[in-house]
Amino acid sequence: MKDKATEVAMKRYDRRAFVYDFMEGFGERWRFGRWRKMQWNKVEGRNILEVGVGTGKNFPYYPAGAEITAIDFSDKMLARARSKAQKQGVKVRLLQMDAQKLEFADNSFDTVVGTFVFCSVPDPVLGLKEVERVVKPGGKVLLLEHVLAANRTLASLMNLVNPVVVRVMGANINRRTVENVARASLTVEHVTDLAAGIFKLIEARKR
Ligand SMILES: C[S@@+](CC[C@H](N)C(=O)[O-])C[C@H]1O[C@@H](n2cnc3c(N)ncnc32)[C@H](O)[C@@H]1O
Repeated sequence: MKDKATEVAMKRYDRRAFVYDFMEGFGERWRFGRWRKMQWNKVEGRNILEVGVGTGKNFPYYPAGAEITAIDFSDKMLARARSKAQKQGVKVRLLQMDAQKLEFADNSFDTVVGTFVFCSVPDPVLGLKEVERVVKPGGKVLLLEHVLAANRTLASLMNLVNPVVVRVMGANINRRTVENVARASLTVEHVTDLAAGIFKLIEARKR
């Protein structure tokens, strides 16, 4: 049984699935593609979990020889990912699952990856606690995220327009994901500021 906020968020992505790749096209051509590559180059080990796989935009960057499981709560996003995986010949186990309630045993994965996901998970700390639970001790967590700007004026503006952005895009633009990672008991090892103090590559590890 899903809570109301999760149900609403899931349906939002179901509705956007058919336009998602088009909507994100600009970002992809701008810098996202380069950042995805940077993120996946940092993956460690063989047993990898991708949380919030969406339509499978990370498929081209999956490391050869890795055993990858990828989850998303939106059926419609997953359907797109499935067809893309088939067309591109990508070996990945795709499962419908809520990041806030992962159906994996503790200490299952060498690395957990999420790209632009914890901006839309309804309870991000709960989701990150689940990530912490399923990654192996000493295992790596790699998150590419946009976060609330440190600049006060920009942050106020982001807070102001956030409700509209959530409705249109499905993502919150005012999340404090670096702090949330620490709140989930993961050790933040490195944060790379990729653009405007908003786009970050967060590298964390389970103790
Ligand atoms: C902005 S999209 C990013 C998709 C993909 N990672 C990418 O880089 O294009 C966010 C994705 O996270 C998924 N998502 C959000 N909350 C989730 C949750 N609680 N459990 C599983 N997936 C979730 C959405 O369905 C959506 O596919």
